[in-house]
Amino acid sequence: MIFLLLHLFNWLKYQMVYYILGAFAIIDDLQNRENNKFEIEKKRGKVAVITGGARGIGLEVVKKLLSCEMHVIIGCRNVKVGESVLQQLALSNMSFEVYSLDLKSFSSVKNFAQRVLSKYSCIDVLVNNAGVMFVPYEICENGFEAHWTVNYLSHFLLIKLLQPVLKQKVKNGNNARIVNVTSCAYKVSPPIDFNKLNDKDSYLSYAAYAKSKLAQLIMTKYLSKILEDSHIRVIAVHPGIVDTEIFNGTFLKLAFPWILKHLCKSSEEGSRTIAYACVSNTLDCSDYYTNCQPALCIPYADNVDVQEKLYSTSIKFVKKYL
Ligand SMILES: NC(=O)c1ccc[n+]([C@@H]2O[C@H](COP(=O)([O-])OP(=O)(O)OC[C@H]3O[C@@H](n4cnc5c(N)ncnc54)[C@H](OP(=O)(O)O)[C@@H]3O)[C@@H](O)[C@H]2O)c1
Repeated sequence: MIFLLLHLFNWLKYQMVYYILGAFAIIDDLQNRENNKFEIEKKRGKVAVITGGARGIGLEVVKKLLSCEMHVIIGCRNVKVGESVLQQLALSNMSFEVYSLDLKSFSSVKNFAQRVLSKYSCIDVLVNNAGVMFVPYEICENGFEAHWTVNYLSHFLLIKLLQPVLKQKVKNGNNARIVNVTSCAYKVSPPIDFNKLNDKDSYLSYAAYAKSKLAQLIMTKYLSKILEDSHIRVIAVHPGIVDTEIFNGTFLKLAFPWILKHLCKSSEEGSRTIAYACVSNTLDCSDYYTNCQPALCIPYADNVDVQEKLYSTSIKFVKKYL
């Protein structure tokens, strides 16, 4: 009984905290509308890989990368749907491929990476964009909870698998870039308890989403340090609060759809900072951006012990697929 009451209390607490965080984030986006600008810079001949590029914010990022004249490889679950969405874009000289990728499965991540590696010896940009939010408790085929698997661990595996061809860029004196699409929701995550990553009894989808986004941010910061000598820039981006299908089924979308429609960013606006992190020539040395500007993070994300623990644990989890 006490456990149930505690669970209910936690659920209410997260509801409130998310609404407060969301309200502040929307205000921040509105105040920074003028700064959220992205200039198309031509990157002809460069290659980008993006997860979840067939709809939502990811599709708008793809459009921008194509406008930069990059070749774009899109990973999504339904290749036919992805190809037909891309073919309908009225852009001239589009150069793209759509490969199958289900981030719920490490084998699928490995197959996707192998297809990329078999064709390309050099990748300029990897955008880890795909994500799920507030989904019911599910253990995916490799034994980890769905938010943790899709948003964080599979992307970690993809980075490790593609790292050799991202490193390749050193030769040309250019920095390759890994852009991780996180969320300001990381701010409300509990500290990561590595012994309870899959705990069903205490599962709250709000906490699980926040925790996966915190892990993405912590890993960005850690990889940013250890890959510095390889000239790979690793950047995390909060795209803003964006009216996409990720809010389907949430109380916000059901009760106050006008907030999303009129106060939040469109997918195009949400894609700007991500595209900026991918191609801008004027990036400073920050590792976290929002509204095309560097942003501050909570100190927990900079904790070296936590970063090292997350890295070593993640390597252990995906080792079989490396
Ligand atoms: N919208 C916001 O306010 C907001 C705020 C902060 C951060 N973000 C982040 O922005 C990113 C994009 O979200 P969105 O708002 O554009 O959401 P969305 O419209 O729901 O799109 C989600 C994308 O993730 C892909 N995806 C989901 N599960 C997948 C799986 N198992 N395997 C492969 N791909 C999968 C989907 O691909 P399919 O086509 O295969 O379904 C789709 O492209 C997410 O990482 C999200 O956390 C969004």
